[in-house]
Amino acid sequence: MSKVAVITGGGSGLGQSCAIRLAEEGVNIAVVDVSDEGGNQTVEAVKELGQDAIFIKADVSKAEDVKRYVDETIEYFGTIDYFFNNAGISGSGAYFLETDIKEIEQIVGINLLGALYGIRYVAEVMLKNGGGSIVNTASSAGVIGQDTVVTYSATKHGIVGLTKSLVAEYAKDGLRVNAIAPGPTETPMVKSYFEANPKMKESAESGIPQKRLGTPEEVAELVTFLLTSKAEYINGEVIRIDGGFTNTKF
Ligand SMILES: NC(=O)c1ccc[n+]([C@@H]2O[C@H](COP(=O)([O-])OP(=O)(O)OC[C@H]3O[C@@H](n4cnc5c(N)ncnc54)[C@H](O)[C@@H]3O)[C@@H](O)[C@H]2O)c1
Repeated sequence: MSKVAVITGGGSGLGQSCAIRLAEEGVNIAVVDVSDEGGNQTVEAVKELGQDAIFIKADVSKAEDVKRYVDETIEYFGTIDYFFNNAGISGSGAYFLETDIKEIEQIVGINLLGALYGIRYVAEVMLKNGGGSIVNTASSAGVIGQDTVVTYSATKHGIVGLTKSLVAEYAKDGLRVNAIAPGPTETPMVKSYFEANPKMKESAESGIPQKRLGTPEEVAELVTFLLTSKAEYINGEVIRIDGGFTNTKF
């Protein structure tokens, strides 16, 4: 029987690449996103690989939407084995004291509350079924401090905390929870930003020991490894995938 994965932010970037990589492993996917276009595109890509997929339009910052995407996944697929808790936004890049309160609320709502709500409902299903595996998307900014991303960094450090603490409570019941901390990765969002600001791309790359950005495919490979039984004894880890970037910042 095929395993079932729920992927938030599955309509683009890391979420979409991971959906495709998991489908190659024979996994069926519930794609959760606010974007109809992206969500449906991922569903098509998964189906082309011979796996089943559904798109569920939901805003992860709303607890009632989160409960609904979990209920609809169970209704359609009957279970949830893997959860890539990934939807997130970055913010305007303004210094913190120039940041609008609305922007702070939005970033915390999507990146941190959205991740907590997701685990609140998904883990309930997993534990009822004897266990499951979760990967949360943190960031380089979740393991080091960086300017112009104070709120984002606070939410991603929060992701690291929830990853470790959940393991303390539920590893004994069959739950595995890990996090990834990608450095700048060439998702559509980052690509279009760097196309408009080529100097920023050069400066980002020069600060990375491997002198290039990461690719969504490289991140999808790591997430697939962590989600599946190949990583059965890895729990509560935060794995950096950043070409050495954060290891040179201490
Ligand atoms: N790309 C990078 O360089 C990078 C680096 C570190 C961490 N990350 C993290 O990776 C995750 C994915 O980022 P990405 O680069 O793939 O970005 P992306 O913009 O390509 O994809 C994010 C997806 O999330 C969806 N989304 C946004 N708000 C949502 C909401 N409220 N509810 C449901 N879906 C929502 C978007 O529609 C989009 O499809 C984010 O958590 C981001 O913080 C990205």
